[in-house]
Amino acid sequence: MTQGEILYSGKAKTICLSEKPDELIVSFRDDITAFDGGKKDQLQGKGASNAGVSAFLFGILEESGVQTHFIRMEDPVTMRVKKLSMIPLEVIVRNRAAGSIVRNYPFTEGHYFDPPVVVTDYKDDTRHDPMINDDIIVALGLLTHEEIARVKASALKVNLVLKAFFDGIGLELVDFKIEYGRYGNTILLGDEISMDSMRLWEKGTMKSMDKDVYRFEKGDVMEAYRTVSARIFGSR
Ligand code: C5P
Repeated sequence: MTQGEILYSGKAKTICLSEKPDELIVSFRDDITAFDGGKKDQLQGKGASNAGVSAFLFGILEESGVQTHFIRMEDPVTMRVKKLSMIPLEVIVRNRAAGSIVRNYPFTEGHYFDPPVVVTDYKDDTRHDPMINDDIIVALGLLTHEEIARVKASALKVNLVLKAFFDGIGLELVDFKIEYGRYGNTILLGDEISMDSMRLWEKGTMKSMDKDVYRFEKGDVMEAYRTVSARIFGSR
């Protein structure tokens, strides 16, 4: 593997050029942050944990017909991906109410959404990722209305696949955030899907097994991440 110049360094991942113009190398670091970077730490093994889970989940999504940027793992913290032109949107799917939807609207934590709720946020830390509607997405030139419909349908499919998978290992998929990017004429699922970007509750208990353990100091976050990884990798 040839890891080239750093293209972008985010809060928990570093993106580098590779020897191929249409592929990138993503390194998952041990950094963990919350509240727009207001809380930060380094946790040994966190990068490997999230990289492994992300790779696994991209794999089951590909098997279910969802196209992703994932190519292969180069080592436990390094993922080779297709180079996408990222669309600055966070697509959030919610099966139960938690986090910002409870803070911003009169839902009780744990309220079931049937059908699931899809929310789009404009990805911009300086603006605190404001919620964005379809007309603003189109006015900004990010996606057409037809592409928005395809992205939302894809996000709901991701939800169906992941919800069923987590149910099988005793975890409830409460919500998650995904990001998409353009690759030629197609739009592919990019970024990561890990305990940093999902809410997972121990089935039947509402016990957090995700980054909320870190955000709200609910216990040992690495223990939660290791438990989720072990169940995922024990499932196959
Ligand atoms: O904070 P909020 O309740 O809107 O988050 C919904 C879901 O999206 C959670 O699983 C959270 O971890 C994820 N998320 C994320 N990155 C963000 C915002 C939310 O991964 N910038």
